[in-house]
Amino acid sequence: MRLTAHIALIRCAEPLPDLTPEDSLTVLDTPTLATPAPSVVRSARTRHYLMCEPSHFEVVYAINPWMDPRNPVDPERARLQWEVLRNTYLSLGHRVDLIDPMAGQPDMVFAANGGIVVGGRAYGARFRFAERAAEGEAYGAWLAQEGIAVTAPVHTNEGEGDFLALGSMILAGTGFRTSLEAHIEAAAVLDRPVVSLELVDPRFYHLDVAIAVLDDGNGSAPADIAYYPGAFSRHSQRTLRDLFPDAILCSEADARVLGLNAVSDGQHVVLPAAATSLAAAVRDRGYTPVPVDLGEFMKSGGSVKCCTMEMHR
Ligand code: ARG
Repeated sequence: MRLTAHIALIRCAEPLPDLTPEDSLTVLDTPTLATPAPSVVRSARTRHYLMCEPSHFEVVYAINPWMDPRNPVDPERARLQWEVLRNTYLSLGHRVDLIDPMAGQPDMVFAANGGIVVGGRAYGARFRFAERAAEGEAYGAWLAQEGIAVTAPVHTNEGEGDFLALGSMILAGTGFRTSLEAHIEAAAVLDRPVVSLELVDPRFYHLDVAIAVLDDGNGSAPADIAYYPGAFSRHSQRTLRDLFPDAILCSEADARVLGLNAVSDGQHVVLPAAATSLAAAVRDRGYTPVPVDLGEFMKSGGSVKCCTMEMHR
């Protein structure tokens, strides 16, 4: 049984954008008879997110294989899709703060890249490409003004694009954007063990398009992830197998629609709607998939998680 977003979003404090049926999300929360009883009861923890309005979002340069300035963004559609995402978080009871977008920084909408915050400390971002360089300082200033101790990075890193925080460790990607030196720097700044993982497929240039954290392991359940093995070098595939023998293995088809670029509160997994097999796998594990369409952002190589920085406790 499918409930439409209009129902799920009723509790939002802010006025809703005009949703067309096409833009509505579906909340698949009614188990069917075919679903095996999940062995773990999933529970949501209230989260604190930072987002950036897509006021200046466009594709005018290409720094990853998804981007082609000849395939322009529809600004109104992008705005609507982004509003649905924000309202989804609000309707799930989460806090969403906003950072002011800057003219001339079209990728600033991808808030995940602005740094990584764990336990009141932040490790700032230092972008690989000059086109995004100014974002690092803007996000760092916003976090500092929130009272978070921000360490400015020496080494190149793109925040939560390549750093995924779990309760006991940080998973870190390298190969396209974030440097290995930054992994060591992040471990020192955030005082957490960091596990380095090597990305090898340019379509999956950030860790957060190759791994989805379903449960961060901060509650009663153990850490739980989904990942696309083909995004990783052989030795990193082995690391992931050893650390997460029960992980969901995502298909290439679902990875290619950026299905792994998901945000979970421990129960609800907000993910790109096109990743239907992944949604089914997530549901079989006792989570509630919440599909959203962020098709305009895919033109830039981003989706749900990219648009969302989490202030991890
Ligand atoms: N166009 C952006 C870039 O290539 C997309 C960033 C996506 N963000 C992410 N967290 N994966 O930098």
